Amino acid sequence: MVMNALVAPRYGDPDVVELRAIAEPELGPREVVVEVRATTVNSGDARLRAARFPDGMAWLGRVMFGWSAPKRQVLGAELAGVVTAVGTKVSEYVAGDRVLAMTGMRMGAHAERCAVDVDHCVVPLPATVGFEEAVTLPFGGTTALTYLADRAALRSGERVLVIGASGAVGAACVQVARLLGAEVTGVCSGANAGLVRSLGAKHVVDYTRTDLGTLGDRWDVVIDTVGQANVKHLCGLAASRGRVGLVSAGLPQMLVGAWRNLSTRQRVLFGPAAESPANLSRLVGWLEEGSWRPVIDDRLPLARGAEAHARVDSMRKVGSLVLVPRD
Ligand SMILES: NC(=O)c1ccc[n+]([C@@H]2O[C@H](COP(=O)([O-])OP(=O)(O)OC[C@H]3O[C@@H](n4cnc5c(N)ncnc54)[C@H](OP(=O)(O)O)[C@@H]3O)[C@@H](O)[C@H]2O)c1
Repeated sequence: MVMNALVAPRYGDPDVVELRAIAEPELGPREVVVEVRATTVNSGDARLRAARFPDGMAWLGRVMFGWSAPKRQVLGAELAGVVTAVGTKVSEYVAGDRVLAMTGMRMGAHAERCAVDVDHCVVPLPATVGFEEAVTLPFGGTTALTYLADRAALRSGERVLVIGASGAVGAACVQVARLLGAEVTGVCSGANAGLVRSLGAKHVVDYTRTDLGTLGDRWDVVIDTVGQANVKHLCGLAASRGRVGLVSAGLPQMLVGAWRNLSTRQRVLFGPAAESPANLSRLVGWLEEGSWRPVIDDRLPLARGAEAHARVDSMRKVGSLVLVPRD
């Protein structure tokens, strides 16, 4: 049996990605096979396809993901779909269950079917939640919860600055901060100001017109999803005991952050976000009760995967780019 999948046989531009018929996934004892109804091309997929690893981490990235070509040629790290087969040691799910999952370093979600490890990050998806809406949650939402709730311990009433507020991670940070009771300032281009306000930002700064440093303001928590500002500048935007989240930090920024953690009362937070089922369930709950707004840049069939990668590379993607294998 074969299935369609988007394959990245080598590192390179978006057009290295092509639709191919490949073997069906094999089912391990603690795995389920999920028929993928929706997945995304996110900034992690695009980075990996291009071998565009964070500054100072190219060697580590290639050791982990493949030296001269991706080890896992079917990318895609989040999916929503229906369980079609269950491993011999799985009692939590049965065929027909709707699920939302993150596949971690195994990836494989850019396909009609994907084997998912039930011990990694899988949660049930209520019947009232659509697959395409749900799949916008994991990548941005778990990163936002990791940084704001788990690492920054954000408290109700605090003030949060989100730089890059219209991307997948930024839009999720705005919503998580709002739902945790914070007052949010979002930084984006003027074109996305209305969206960022609608997600819950009380204030919006258009970075094409205003330099944040000239505002003279300080925030309890600063989250930078863009990764272009230097750490000292970002810390200058935070209160004296503020927390600064460097979501897309390279090694030099992490080293500066680690030094500042030893030498100042501010806390600089960095590193990979946790793929936590508890956080994923919390996000599904918000979506189900109607307090979370999914942000979908575009919805494309699997066959247009190269186009989806090009859109992500443009750095203009708004929220999530959803791929629908059955279209
Ligand atoms: N640490 C982790 O575990 C982790 C997890 C997830 C993601 N990440 C990293 O986080 C970064 C962001 O990911 P993402 O998926 O959110 O990216 P994304 O969705 O591709 O971000 C695109 C957005 O970036 C905005 N943008 C571009 N330049 C900007 C600037 N100078 N100032 C403000 N906004 C700007 C654009 O808005 P405008 O068009 O309005 O400019 C666009 O909406 C990536 O580097 C990714 O690798 C890290």
